[in-house]
Amino acid sequence: MYQKIDVGDTNQYSLYLDAPLNQLGEYLDEKYGAKAHYLIITNTLVADLYADSLLEGLTQFRTDLITVPDSEEEKSLARISKLTEQALSCRADRDTIVLALGGGVIGDLAGFFASVYMRGIRYIHIPTTFLAQIDSSIGSKVAVNHSSGKNLLGAFYAPQLVWTDFDTLKTLPWEELQNGLAETIKHSMVSDFTLFEFIEQHVKDIKELNYELIKEVALRSIAVKVKIVNQDVKEKGLRVLLNLGHSFGHALETDEKYQGITHGQGVSVGLVAASHIACGRGLLTEAQLNRIINLLNEFDLPTTIEHRNPQDLLQHMTADKKNKAGTKILVLPVGIGNVALVSDCEDNEIISAWKKVMK
Ligand SMILES: NC(=O)c1ccc[n+]([C@@H]2O[C@H](COP(=O)([O-])OP(=O)(O)OC[C@H]3O[C@@H](n4cnc5c(N)ncnc54)[C@H](O)[C@@H]3O)[C@@H](O)[C@H]2O)c1
Repeated sequence: MYQKIDVGDTNQYSLYLDAPLNQLGEYLDEKYGAKAHYLIITNTLVADLYADSLLEGLTQFRTDLITVPDSEEEKSLARISKLTEQALSCRADRDTIVLALGGGVIGDLAGFFASVYMRGIRYIHIPTTFLAQIDSSIGSKVAVNHSSGKNLLGAFYAPQLVWTDFDTLKTLPWEELQNGLAETIKHSMVSDFTLFEFIEQHVKDIKELNYELIKEVALRSIAVKVKIVNQDVKEKGLRVLLNLGHSFGHALETDEKYQGITHGQGVSVGLVAASHIACGRGLLTEAQLNRIINLLNEFDLPTTIEHRNPQDLLQHMTADKKNKAGTKILVLPVGIGNVALVSDCEDNEIISAWKKVMK
């Protein structure tokens, strides 16, 4: 039997966790009746793996399945336009409900499509990557990319519900699990030291793909995200703290033009760079810094990078969405399990942190 957790305030919705894909139909029947029309948006890879299980439970409804290529590049206005044509030819109307089946890319794309199609129709997240389950499906942020920046066009648009089947993780490649683990370690550093310790104690189980254990880590990570989102639904304050490591990570991703480094790898190096600054300011001890580096290393997440020009990286950080009136705003760890927002970081302090993560 699944677990149910409520998220949000004005547009409250629920996460159904450990909920089998083929049982979603039963739930929808009760909630929306048999006449509803469902538009499943997924990608080619996930469709091959999971469309049948999902459709197995939806036989009583009118359904249409749209698959898009498996790529971050599909988070685009061009794809939104194509989806609009396809939805119209499926006779999707204002009562249609979108089912976003896939990882964070599909969740962001299908969620954004739902937010604008006919001025907004309902959608449901069915996250199938670790990252999407613990992070991107929670918090109502949907977006597509623009040539000028990632996630530049988007909205806060709450789903009707999130239906999370942890069994889908069993087909996920290790490097995708790694990406999500970087975010989980970040969640633990932001607000749950006991989660950090739990991950440390179970490194071996996680690496050996003990899925019961991985589920436990996911549930605890989800609890952190929900706790913070519930206190700051529109990211006006507290939720910014979830960006720990991201100012540095995004700078690296930009420097690599999103090719040579995954988001999780960028976050991993970013957590270490932010920790170096915190250490210099006495917010974190050397022992805590080493503990963070060791845990990331245990999962083969990078904690250093090849030498490059730190000025370029600093420059990329000026475009960070958290910055205000030209001042760089950084999230820094305070011990493990707590963070602070700081606005008085000098450029030379940031450059010195970049140098410390360079080989
Ligand atoms: N909206 C938010 O709050 C938020 C938060 C974090 C990240 N994001 C976005 O999420 C995206 C990254 O998400 P992601 O890491 O899930 O990447 P992704 O969606 O690209 O999925 C990663 C890979 O795993 C495959 N996959 C998905 N489920 C699978 C499964 N069960 N088994 C095997 N393979 C599977 C996908 O086809 C893809 O190849 C980025 O676009 C990022 O901007 C959004």
